[in-house]
Order: sequence, then structure tokens, then C-alpha cells
Amino acid sequence: ELLCIVMVIVAYLLGSVSSAVVICKLFGLPDPRTKGSKNPGTTNVYRLGGAVPAALTLLGDMLKGTIPVWGSYFLHLPAVWLGVIAIAACIGHMYPCFFNYIGGKGVATAFGALLPIGLDLGALLVVSWALVLRLSGYSSLASIVTISLSPLFVYWIKPLYTLPVAMLALLMLWRHHENISRLLTGNEKKIWEKNSNPD
Ligand code: G3P
Repeated sequence: ELLCIVMVIVAYLLGSVSSAVVICKLFGLPDPRTKGSKNPGTTNVYRLGGAVPAALTLLGDMLKGTIPVWGSYFLHLPAVWLGVIAIAACIGHMYPCFFNYIGGKGVATAFGALLPIGLDLGALLVVSWALVLRLSGYSSLASIVTISLSPLFVYWIKPLYTLPVAMLALLMLWRHHENISRLLTGNEKKIWEKNSNPD
């Protein structure tokens, strides 16, 4: 039990390290919390600095999910705790204690946390995301559709984890509420458009 609680705290702290802010600083880019969509995530780093810093942000944010979940799996922690640890990593990313609790939307971290379930699940998530991006041009819509499908995919592949994934999905959809209203009012910017908000 103690080990489980320690891993939850480790996951939250690791999740709290904002890859987007760190990478933008290293690359001399503007703070992603103040420019573009003002979201410290892969999409916005792509807007501000292109593919290389965006790929590094994606990798960093994914590892924040993968490392604690995989570590806990190898420590033989019970399945229910793996779900809690995955959610803790995403909450760290969304509400980071090192960055005034202003974080991202959790998509890359949740993806990283779900990868240990299986590469088949990972492939489904990637295909769904890429397909919607290809058809619409909106990164946020690709995330919203894929997040909404994720509990179904998990139910199909590993039903044991449906509940924590559904909870994570609700949390991530909530974090996209500004994107949802921009999409509905036609104000959302496509992934290749530089600024989501004029500033
Ligand atoms: O996962 C984040 C993405 O869905 C939206 O990012 O920067 O367009 O709000 P952004």
C-alpha cells in the first residue's frame, strides 16, 4: 500500500514537469503558456517552433505517463493502482505543482500511460487521431474524437481498465472546453495556422 501511494506521488511530480515549457526554453522559443493557443502541449510547441521541439515535447510528455505506469507494473502493483497512477501523472500534467498549476490537456501523457496496455491499443489511438487530423486539420478535434473513443477501445482490448480510462477521458474532455467552444464558433485554428488566438 505504501509503495502504491509513493508511486502515485512520483507520477504526479513527474507529470508536473512541463515538457513544453522546458523545451521551449531550451530552444529559445516563447513561453507556450503565453503564445498561440496558450497551451503547454505538443500542438502549441509545433505552432511556435515546428516539428523538432514538438516531437521532443511529445516524447517528454508521453514518458511522464509511461515511466510511472510501467514501473508500477513491474513492481507488481495491483491493477486498480495502475489506473490511479496513470490518472495521477495526467493530473500532474494538467495541474503542475512546479508551474503554478497551469498545465496542459493531458493527451500525450495519457497516451504514454495507456501504451503499456498494448501496442494494439496504441495503434488504434494513433490511427484515430491521425485520421481525424488528416480529414479536419484540427489537432484539438483529433484529440477530442480519440479521447471519446478511448474507453471503447480499452473496453475492447483490456476491459479491466475501462473505468480509469473513462475517468481520464472525461477529465481530458473537460480540459478541451475552450477548444470545443472555438470549434463550435468556427474560431479554432488548423494545426498549420500559427496562432490560435490573436495576441
Ligand atoms: O492535445 C492538445 C490539442 O488537442 C489542442 O491543443 O494547443 O490547439 O489547444 P491546442
